[in-house]
Amino acid sequence: MEKTFLMLKPDAVQRGIIGDIVSRFEKKGFKLVALKLIQVDKTLAEEHYKEHKGKGFFGPTVEYIISSPIVAMVWEGKNVVSLAREMMGATNPANAAPGSIRGSYAVDISRNIIHGSDSVESAEREIALYFKPEEILVYDKAGETWLSE
Ligand code: PPS
Repeated sequence: MEKTFLMLKPDAVQRGIIGDIVSRFEKKGFKLVALKLIQVDKTLAEEHYKEHKGKGFFGPTVEYIISSPIVAMVWEGKNVVSLAREMMGATNPANAAPGSIRGSYAVDISRNIIHGSDSVESAEREIALYFKPEEILVYDKAGETWLSE
């Protein structure tokens, strides 16, 4: 089953909206298969955002990500990569649809609450950055059989 990596960024943790955001993905019908609250160090943050090295926002983004704990998660489900991105809303909250996560909770691109993998390949890379294989759990979830035929 498809997996994605989602990160609740420091502003989500500090603003006390972890539960609200996790709840959206649970209610959608996705399965949480890994979760941890961690302090990201500079090496990990730079590795995560390495494709943006050299852009003006690279340094500030790294500083933001390491400024306070984050919640790292792996979610599983049908089309979870693209559907989670739709639930998150546009990267810039100014353009995020009302009702999306960023549309509901954020106003500025530099504090946009959540990160989600943009492809299955990115998800595999990002999951491996934050989790050991044995930390990704395999289990049956009640209600799973009611999500699709
Ligand atoms: S871009 O513009 O195509 O390089 O952007 P994208 O691939 O969507 O991801 C950029 C990540 O950096 C974060 N970030 C910003 N992007 C653009 N402009 C500014 N000013 C900026 N500040 C921070 C943005 O949120 C993306 O990170 P994630 O974690 O994926 O949200």
